[in-house]
Formats: sequence, C-alpha cells, structure tokens
Amino acid sequence: MSETNQSNLTPSQIADLQQRATAVAHNAYAPYSNFRVGAALLLDNGSIVTGCNVENASYRLTSCAEQSAIAAAISQHGPAIRIRAIAVANLNSTASQPCGACRQTIHEFSTPNTLIFFPAQDGSIASTTIAELLPGAFILKK
Ligand code: THU
Repeated sequence: MSETNQSNLTPSQIADLQQRATAVAHNAYAPYSNFRVGAALLLDNGSIVTGCNVENASYRLTSCAEQSAIAAAISQHGPAIRIRAIAVANLNSTASQPCGACRQTIHEFSTPNTLIFFPAQDGSIASTTIAELLPGAFILKK
C-alpha cells in the first residue's frame, strides 16, 4: 500500500471525503452483519456522491457501499464519469478494504490512478490505487 498521496487532493478534500463516507454509513441498512459502511466518491467533474451498504434477507443480494455509491453516481451524472478518489469508512472502527467484487466495480469507472482511502489495521487512513488493489481486472474484449 502506498503511504504517499500523489493525487493532488488537498488534506481538507481528503478529510471531507472521509467525513462524508462516515456520515452516510449512518444510513446503512445492515441488520444482518451490523457492519455499517459508507463510501464517498470524488468524480472527475468535481461532484461528490455517497452510498452505503444495503443488505437483504437473501444475503447475496447485498449491495456494498462502494457499489451503491457508484450506482448513484451513474444515475446522477451519467455513464461517462470517472472516479478520481474514493473514501470508505465503517462505524465499527475496523480495518476494511474494498471487497473483491467492489474492486472490479470501481475499476469499471476508474483510471489506474484512482485513489482509494480506507481504514488501515493501525487505525490510520491508508491510501492506494485501484491498479494496486486489482492488478488483474477483468476487461471484456469483444
Ligand atoms: N461491505 C461493504 O459495504 N463494502 C465492502 O467493501 C466490504 C463489505 C458490506 C457488505 C455487508 O453489508 C457488510 O459490509 C459485511 O460484509
């Protein structure tokens, strides 16, 4: 994981994304896991879009926070958006990186340099890129 921030995001932009991710996690529907997650996306058009996890009694139908945020971003801004940065937060004070499925979903709307901020094991906020998180992303060649 990269400890450096090469995103040209200011510390206050990063803090703002983290705060929005934490705030939206309070809206999570997570009665089965009690693991409430929020994600805040900074888009290349400057907009910020958030989402939270939405669970289901049929467990596999759960939407992760990252996927909810991306669905909202496409709904609000259209299919051409690119994600500049993502902050992920949870209310359990637990280290948590985007799951494998979310990495592929993030990849779909990212550049290799898209940054992901997430809670690390030591309690700090770590940052990495989607290229580091998912080096072998599936790409459909027609
Ligand atoms: N979850 C997310 O929202 N994002 C992730 O990247 C990992 C997992 C959610 C899904 C489920 O509602 C709960 O966390 C426990 O897995």
